[in-house]
Amino acid sequence: MRINKVAVWLTVLLCATSAFGQKTNYDAIKGAKKISPDLFGLFFEDINYAADGGLYAEMVQNRSFEYNPSIRNGWGPYSFWQFVSPGFSIGYTNIETGNPLHRNNPVYAVLDIEFVGNYPQFKGDAGVGLKNSGFDGMVVREGESYNFSVFAKMLSQAPIDFLLVLENPKGEVLAKAKFQTASDQWQKYTANLTATANCDSASLLVLAQTEGKVAIDMVSLFPENTFKNRSNGLRADLAQVLADMQPRFMRFPGGCLVHGSGTGNMYRWKNTIGPVETRKAQRNIWGYHQTAGLGFFEYFQFCEDIGAKPIPILPAAVSCQNSGGTHVIGGAGQKALCMNDMDEYIQEVLDLIEWANGPVNSTWGAQRAATGHPEPFKLEYIGIGNEDKITPEFEERFAMIFKAVKEKYPEIKVIGTSGPFSDGVDFEKGWKLCNDLDVDVVDEHYYKGPEWFLSNHYRYDQYKRNGPKVYLGEYASWGNKMFNAIAEAAYMTALERNGDVVAMASYAPLMAKKGFTQWTTDMLFFDNVNIVKTPNYYVQKLFMNNRGAYYFNGVVQADKADTLNLVSCVLDKNTGDVILKIVNAGSQNKTVKVDLSRFKHIKTTATQTVFSGSKSDENTFDLPNKIVPVESQINLAKKFDYAAPAMSLTVIRFNSK
Ligand code: AHR
Repeated sequence: MRINKVAVWLTVLLCATSAFGQKTNYDAIKGAKKISPDLFGLFFEDINYAADGGLYAEMVQNRSFEYNPSIRNGWGPYSFWQFVSPGFSIGYTNIETGNPLHRNNPVYAVLDIEFVGNYPQFKGDAGVGLKNSGFDGMVVREGESYNFSVFAKMLSQAPIDFLLVLENPKGEVLAKAKFQTASDQWQKYTANLTATANCDSASLLVLAQTEGKVAIDMVSLFPENTFKNRSNGLRADLAQVLADMQPRFMRFPGGCLVHGSGTGNMYRWKNTIGPVETRKAQRNIWGYHQTAGLGFFEYFQFCEDIGAKPIPILPAAVSCQNSGGTHVIGGAGQKALCMNDMDEYIQEVLDLIEWANGPVNSTWGAQRAATGHPEPFKLEYIGIGNEDKITPEFEERFAMIFKAVKEKYPEIKVIGTSGPFSDGVDFEKGWKLCNDLDVDVVDEHYYKGPEWFLSNHYRYDQYKRNGPKVYLGEYASWGNKMFNAIAEAAYMTALERNGDVVAMASYAPLMAKKGFTQWTTDMLFFDNVNIVKTPNYYVQKLFMNNRGAYYFNGVVQADKADTLNLVSCVLDKNTGDVILKIVNAGSQNKTVKVDLSRFKHIKTTATQTVFSGSKSDENTFDLPNKIVPVESQINLAKKFDYAAPAMSLTVIRFNSK
């Protein structure tokens, strides 16, 4: 009798806790399958001016006079600079390398000011100096402040007065500031300029107004309003568009940028940290200049700022097989670091993990702390190699790096690579190597037509469940029209269905600057002022904003043979919300049956987002909002029919509270 009383009380207690919204056991819901909670994230590469001239908010182009013809024919130290001597002033400028600011930053400019004009009839500011118009003009906004900095060194006795002017194309002044040099050693000077008017094509004038000689380098101008007001920060509007996606991870710095064009051009992370004036700029494999101002610290910090896991990809000690401008059959374009350099290179890889995660009293953890980040960055994954040709040289080096990482840091998940295609020799060899070595995750890349994504949605249904996981590190259908985006959405429902074997996926490339685009299908297009969100962006965002940790089969009844109509049902374990994604890639409405009766804990109130259009719809700079998702609050029964509009993705999120 007593036992029965206890049982009754226990039952009452349990019922009460569930009535008060205590944890539902999601594992126990019929058909629950755990899937990767990190499924959808970002791929960032400095391609299409995505970093310098893009996300990286530096407004001065060629700030350290390092441009040269080996980066691009016709470029030199004065590219994007103009010599000026207003007010009938007399002077010269030279490029020198004799006594640089830092060995990684060898080139600087010298101003030799012979005479500063003082004619009363000249009403402007006289002096001798240099003018920079940034990356296609600098954008300034009335009332906003801009942080200027420069390194200067007096080469004559008296201090040199400098005037800084932001001006519009007519030469009208938008802002002014002054500073005076004080040392015959390299020293940093800063000033703040506040714009009095808006201008999308401003220039910065750095004008010496004292007769004498002075060296200058690292001439820099940043908006004060960077993303989260970080110094050496990111363009706030672009960064916010990425943050809004709520990506679970961000891969960086590429792409082919990682392995580079030849061994000397590989991305070496240590060259990209520390004071910006000591970083090693280099030629970007995409044919322009990388300042490394957006370096590993900034990448990790940005990931932290937007709640994304950092996924650094390092070269596998071989360079890009396609570099040198031609695709060399047989991999002759791939260059490997020589074996004598491998110990040092492997140490560099290990040092990154210590730099990211090590305590402040470790060698590299101390360097991270010195940059202002004593807390570890919680690095979980590291990628080795980017779609490399799987040659014997690659295999040997990859295995050496992999084993060294696993020996020292068994908890770090290593991502291997399987070439640039969805199948073929490198794909097979890459997977075999990863299987043999028991690598945690394999990076797959493929760019295909939209029809391929629709008809190959079952790809991962056939993968074995107990091998390495998949990271679909680069994929996109060729195009930015609605049909491309909807085909990708269909494929993403299949990635969710296979979220037990596909650990991560990221659309590529992420962004492209208007007029500077090397890769035509991208998720975002931007210029210095505007951002165009493609339909592909909206699809990615809807999946990232509505991710789940559990997948359920059979909630939405769709015809399995119909490759135009794909669906998924996931449960967000943080909120308990149940999320349906219904894709109709056809040209007719399509009705599907939904049965949510297994989810006892959810309400029938839901947020419904419908993203639909016609097949060839796209967003452009002229019509940036032609197609956008439309959100509404709805009330539905637990069983209902849904008529999915033609060419659409619908997301229905059922509240649990
Ligand atoms: O995403 C653009 C390029 O495509 C990447 O740099 C490379 O990895 C792939 O071939």
